[in-house]
Amino acid sequence: MTISIETHEAGVSLDLCDQRAVLDLFGAAYYRYHYFDDIDRLDRIRFLARTHDGALVGFCAAEQFGMFYKLSNLLVDRRARGQGIGRRLEYTRLRYVRHTGLGAYVSCACDTPASQRLKLEFGLLPIGARYGYRVNVTAPGVVGSSIVFVDRIGLLGTAEESVMVDPKNERARVIFDGSTDLVEQLSVFPSDWYVDVLSQPEVIEGVDLLAPAGIDIDLTDGSYLYCHQLKNDRYNMALTANPTIICFLMRPEDVC
Ligand SMILES: CC(C)(COP(=O)(O)OP(=O)(O)OC[C@H]1O[C@@H](n2cnc3c(N)ncnc32)[C@H](O)[C@@H]1OP(=O)(O)O)[C@@H](O)C(=O)NCCC(=O)NCCS
Repeated sequence: MTISIETHEAGVSLDLCDQRAVLDLFGAAYYRYHYFDDIDRLDRIRFLARTHDGALVGFCAAEQFGMFYKLSNLLVDRRARGQGIGRRLEYTRLRYVRHTGLGAYVSCACDTPASQRLKLEFGLLPIGARYGYRVNVTAPGVVGSSIVFVDRIGLLGTAEESVMVDPKNERARVIFDGSTDLVEQLSVFPSDWYVDVLSQPEVIEGVDLLAPAGIDIDLTDGSYLYCHQLKNDRYNMALTANPTIICFLMRPEDVC
């Protein structure tokens, strides 16, 4: 199959046929795609894979945040998988990002090893795990996990106490500086939410309701904090689902 990969710069709309085709591609692949509203956002660069007769068979996107591009939405039509289209999309997207001199950051689904393989093949480094990061996406009741990959990090950051809540995706993140009662803060979240805590390592010692989950970075400057995940029902369901994880997390000192 002859495939061409097109790059659509940020700020330029896809034509209506392509917008429809992108939505159909994601609609056919997922039960409830949690990023539907974001797919064709104009502040993203969008990469389309097309057959010689114009049919859309693959898509991915990249969005700039400060010093990094966040990569998202890599998808190849089920009928066209295993023929190198995902690799060509990933290659084109990373070549674009690397040409800008900025970093790459991606949260990579663990439903199969395919996407993780591509990230490793192109030199991205696994730094964090998110057990149960998404639910009901591929099928009703299915709890999915993801691995965070980057191509660089900055220095250890300073935690500034804050809480971010995403009710739509049933997720919360606490940035913890050690000055408050963490257990009390975590107790407000429903047990079936994905909840993680970012902090410097020493303030989290001995909190046994948390599991280490690598590090995560601030996309504006690449600074990192240690990540721990709340061992709640969502976490346990994700472990039971046996996510396909094919890489060991790197330590921050081993990531250049
Ligand atoms: C991930 C995805 C985009 C890969 O697209 P693809 O066109 O099938 O990938 P390619 O044919 O380029 O294969 C690239 C590599 O992935 C791996 N791979 C592909 N399909 C695989 C499978 N079913 N099982 C294991 N590895 C697989 C192989 O290592 C392959 O390398 P090889 O050609 O040397 O064997 C596609 O599987 C997909 O859309 N999956 C569902 C959505 C998804 O998981 N997206 C990623 C979100 S982070």
